[in-house]
Amino acid sequence: MPDARDVQVHLLPQLVPNGALAGSVAVAVDVLRATTTVIHALAAGCDCVRPCLEVEEARELADRMRAGRVILGGERGGAPLPGFDLGNSPGEYTPKVCRGTTLVLTTTNGTRAMLKAAEADRALVAGFVNYSAVCEQLRTDPLPIQIVCAGTEGEVSLEDTLLAGALVDVLAEVVEIQLNDAARMAWDCFENHGQMLQGALELSLGGSKLRSLGYDEDIRAAAQVDQYALVPELRRDPLRVEVGAVGIVKSHWQR
Ligand code: MLT
Repeated sequence: MPDARDVQVHLLPQLVPNGALAGSVAVAVDVLRATTTVIHALAAGCDCVRPCLEVEEARELADRMRAGRVILGGERGGAPLPGFDLGNSPGEYTPKVCRGTTLVLTTTNGTRAMLKAAEADRALVAGFVNYSAVCEQLRTDPLPIQIVCAGTEGEVSLEDTLLAGALVDVLAEVVEIQLNDAARMAWDCFENHGQMLQGALELSLGGSKLRSLGYDEDIRAAAQVDQYALVPELRRDPLRVEVGAVGIVKSHWQR
């Protein structure tokens, strides 16, 4: 299959082999909740999102930026951080709060996946909420595809695997593909759980944690397939996520 597109899924950022992302388009996935929140924040009018690995790094970056134009957001253990403006609930990122601001964001796993994806030539940010828009970008980009799932504190997560599988499912229909084993597993997972998306998100590891903290609404928000037509994309110098493409050509959701 000489012309087949290479589509690889990595079920955790730490499972990406060194150098594997060079020359590819990467997709960062943290359905519950970081990538869903980034999509909400950009749709609500944030100019960009600056992902930070560490809490102190995020605090220092926000301090250096002009007061009033920056939102400091994120979580540890799912809970908002002391002194931060917002947590990691997509619904907190409204147009009133976001318009014209930079979001400095640090989360337990999701920002790690985004920063890992930055090793690729091109890096996109995906959730179910922008599913078809991401599918369109991947369909038309000729580069090999590397999907980087955040997981939950070093554990593979059902919700991220499901979205990875949903992306594979569409790519398999529109182009000839060559998969790694994790991509086949993700695809199988989507075949089994894609019909009852919200139920699957609720019973997942990340979903159970959120429910125990009272964030049931965030799970519903993450399951709103194709709510947005925008695809966040990583830009460099400084490293940030901005709205890349906008506009779904067609809906790819088939469940
Ligand atoms: C993360 O990045 O670990 C998550 O988005 C966790 C969460 O906020 O639920």
